[in-house]
Amino acid sequence: MAKFDANAKPFSKQWLDDRLAITTVMKVLNTEYWIPKNINFLWAMGMILAATFGVLVISGIFLLMYYVPTVEGAFDSVNYTIMTEVGYGWLWRHMHGIGASLVFLIIYIHMFTGIYYGSYKRGREMIWISGMLLFVLFSAEAFSGYMLPWGQMSYWAGMVITNLFAGGSLEATGLVEWIRGDYVPDQAFLGRFFMLHVFLLPLIIIGAIVFHFATLRIPHVNNQDGEEIDFDEAAALWKAGMKKESKVIPFSPVFLSKDVFVMGVYFILFFYLVFFHFNFAMDPVNFDPADGLKTPAHIYPEWYFLWSYEILRPFPTDLGLIAFAIAQVIFFALPFLDRSPNVAPASRRGLFNIWFWTLLVDIIILTVMGKLPPEGIWNVIGFISAVLFFVLWLALPFITMFEKKIKE
Ligand code: HEM
Repeated sequence: MAKFDANAKPFSKQWLDDRLAITTVMKVLNTEYWIPKNINFLWAMGMILAATFGVLVISGIFLLMYYVPTVEGAFDSVNYTIMTEVGYGWLWRHMHGIGASLVFLIIYIHMFTGIYYGSYKRGREMIWISGMLLFVLFSAEAFSGYMLPWGQMSYWAGMVITNLFAGGSLEATGLVEWIRGDYVPDQAFLGRFFMLHVFLLPLIIIGAIVFHFATLRIPHVNNQDGEEIDFDEAAALWKAGMKKESKVIPFSPVFLSKDVFVMGVYFILFFYLVFFHFNFAMDPVNFDPADGLKTPAHIYPEWYFLWSYEILRPFPTDLGLIAFAIAQVIFFALPFLDRSPNVAPASRRGLFNIWFWTLLVDIIILTVMGKLPPEGIWNVIGFISAVLFFVLWLALPFITMFEKKIKE
């Protein structure tokens, strides 16, 4: 950085550098933030998540201008005022609903990409843990948002989930009452979930995203081959003009241009759903106003929670709750349960490859079963899949312990 210049023209590059170190910040975050060359479109998912979060915040701000957080006014403010009276209110609502659903699809793709390529190991443990923290925060954000239209599913999902804190009993215990602020979900309940959804959780999510980015800084992102790159050496080659020989590219403008392309394709799908298939993100039952005296025939969560819901359902109440709680947190432990020294794509890791694909298929089956009524054969398949989920996690340390070191 050039020396301080007291006579620099206000707002010139030198003037800004002297006060805000703009050039240094740009280097650290962009032009000298190095990305491996051998990665594919799956590495754009992180930026797509950040962009979708941006869309959720902006559309949320517009919805917030007309939403009424009272049990008398919430349903109509969403389904009548915003949808029919406010100019383009429907657009912001559809964007918010589709964004909330797609963000989970991309989170799952991002998570499973990390698992497939072993991006949670050898210095990348904190990236994984901060990512899981984001997963939990997004889950809480989605759940609290689902309460706000105060429809039948909002009410009954709120009832069922808060009942979990009574160990499955239908009687509201002290803890359940404390969470609800009442015997049943009512104004106090709606008010606190409103506060969580529009203020506290987004604030924590923003902090967690900054933390996630910070954890990426030193280990850098992994690559398709799990190759250990000497980033200093590779960056020096790039800076010396030996771009072909270097194993890295700068984040901006080179990698960013690819990110923007993948994001363009994603937003075509996003707006296709917003304009033509918005019901994909809305449950028809939630278009009935909340009624504490009318329980819907089947109560189920949104698609992205179905796999963990199905882990809860087939077991007796207490056991189901423990299973559910473990399923929520077991992914945090992945970097420590995988004992293999290899950072490589699953396809080159023998038994781990089978483990990976079995886990993925198992979660898809659990998701499908979670939506079906818990009867007959569906119950049996759900039970087997839930047990398999735990068997897989128990087996992980053993199958990875004996994995042979892959020669580089
Ligand atoms: C929801 C908000 C999230 C945002 C905005 C976000 C953002 C990012 C970004 C920008 C990257 C670097 C580029 C890339 O690999 O895509 C990244 C990497 C990573 N993220 Fe996330 N992420 C989020 C959630 C998660 C979750 C839920 C997990 C998993 C538990 C996770 C785990 C990882 C891992 C392991 C990497 C490193 C990938 C590698 O080294 O190849 N992230 N994230």
